[in-house]
Amino acid sequence: MEDLKPRAGRPTDAAASFDWDALVHDDRVHRTIYTDPDIFAAEMTAIFGGTWTYLAHESQIPENHDFVTTLLGLRPIIVVRDAAGVIRALFNRCAHRGATVCRAAAGSARVFQCPYHGWTYFNTGKLSGVPWPDGYACDFDDAKYNLAQVPRVESYRGFIFGTLNPDAASLVDHLGPMAPIIDQWLDRHPGGRVRLCEANRLKYKGNWKLAYDNSADGYHVKFSHRSLLEMENRLKVGNQKGMSFYKDAPDDAPMYVQYLGNGNHFKDKRPNIEPRPGALWEIEGPHPGMEHFEERLRERLGEAAARALDLCASEPVNINIFPNLLILGNHIQVLQPRAVDETDTTWYGTAVVDDANELDGAVDDVNTLRMRALESFPNFGEVDDAVNFEEIQRGLMAEEDPWVYMHRGLDVPGRVKTDENGVITAPATDEVFMRETFKHWKRLMASPPKLTIQRET
Ligand code: FES
Ligand SMILES: [Fe+2]
Repeated sequence: MEDLKPRAGRPTDAAASFDWDALVHDDRVHRTIYTDPDIFAAEMTAIFGGTWTYLAHESQIPENHDFVTTLLGLRPIIVVRDAAGVIRALFNRCAHRGATVCRAAAGSARVFQCPYHGWTYFNTGKLSGVPWPDGYACDFDDAKYNLAQVPRVESYRGFIFGTLNPDAASLVDHLGPMAPIIDQWLDRHPGGRVRLCEANRLKYKGNWKLAYDNSADGYHVKFSHRSLLEMENRLKVGNQKGMSFYKDAPDDAPMYVQYLGNGNHFKDKRPNIEPRPGALWEIEGPHPGMEHFEERLRERLGEAAARALDLCASEPVNINIFPNLLILGNHIQVLQPRAVDETDTTWYGTAVVDDANELDGAVDDVNTLRMRALESFPNFGEVDDAVNFEEIQRGLMAEEDPWVYMHRGLDVPGRVKTDENGVITAPATDEVFMRETFKHWKRLMASPPKLTIQRET
C-alpha cells in the first residue's frame, strides 16, 4: 500500500483547522458544516474514504469482467469483477496523465483502454501496454504505472463497500448490530437475496448530510408528505393505507427509531403492521394495474398469495448505513456528494430472484407489481424531501443565525433508552439518531485516518 502524502497548496490538516467541538454541540450543529467548502473537502477524505463507504451491489456485476462506474467521495471508481472473480474498486484515473479510463456507466471489459493516449489496463488494474513503447526509457513493470485501487473492498450479503483506511475494523464488525437488520431485510425474499434494477436519479442543490439527517426523521412526515398521505388514502376501502401511522400521534405508535453505532440508524415501522401474511399488502396505496396482478397472483397461488403480495408492498423500514447507503422500503438509495451544496441521489429498485421457484412461477408478476409500488415514493415523496433540503441550504445562507437544532427528545426523562450493547431506542419522531451521528461525524473529522491506495505488483 502506498502512503498518501499531504496535498500541496491546500490546508493539509483540516482536522486541526476547525474547532469541531465549537461546531457540534449536544443539541445543535453550526451551519458551516453544511455550507463550508473546506469542511466538505475534509469530509471527502475523513469520511468518504476514511470509513467504509457503499460502492455497488454484487448483482450489478454478476459475471467475471462485469463493471459499474461510481464514485468514492469525489474519486471516480470502477467496481469490477476481474478475470479471477475478485471484486476490485479501481481508481478510474489513468496512471499517465489522469484521464478517466472508463467512460461507461456499466458493461463488461477484460481491459480498459484510456481514450486519451491509449494506455491499456487489465481489469486487475495492471498495465497491459502503452502505444509505441520504444519512446520510453522507463520500466513499465514498475507498479506505479498500474491503476491505483481501493486497498480494502468487502461485501456484506451483496452490498459492496470500500475504504482507504488500512486500520478500519472488518466490514461486518463495523456494521455491528446493523448486520442482522440487513439479514432480516434480505431474508424475507426467496433465497435471501435481491437483484438491483435500474434507477431513479434525482439531484438536489444541498449538502449530502441533509439527506442523511432526514433518513430516519419521523418528525417531518405528516407535514412534508401531506399530499402523499392523502393520495395513498384517497381510494381506500376499509384499511388505513400507506404511512397513515404518522397521521395522528406518531410517538404513540409502536414504531421506533434506533441508533446502532458508527453513524448507522434504523427506523422500524413494522410494529405498526399486524404480524400476519397479507397485512403489509393490505395497507399498500393505489398503483396502476394492481388489481389485475393481485387477482392473477391469488388465482395462481391461493393461500400463498398473501406472502407473495407482501413482497410487492413496501417493507416498512429505513436502514441507514453511514455515510451513503439508505435501504428504505424495497429501495436502495445511494447518496453521492458532488459539492458542498450539490448531491446526487440514486434510487435503485430491487427485484425478487426466485431460483428455487418458491413463488411457483409467479416471480415475474410479483416483480411487475413490486416495480409499480416502487415508483410511488421516489415520485411522490422524495421530491417533497428534496425541496426541504434545497430550502434548508438556502436558509443556512443567513450567516448571522448559525444554529441548526436537533434536540427533540434530549433530556426528556424516560424517552430515550440505551441497552447493554449501546443500542439507543427512542420514539419515532426523536432526533437522537441525528445527534449520535454527529458525535460520530465529529470523531471522524477531528481525527481522520491515514489513507492508503494499492496497486497491483
Ligand atoms: S492520460 Fe491516459 S493514456 Fe494518457
Ligand atoms: Fe421524507
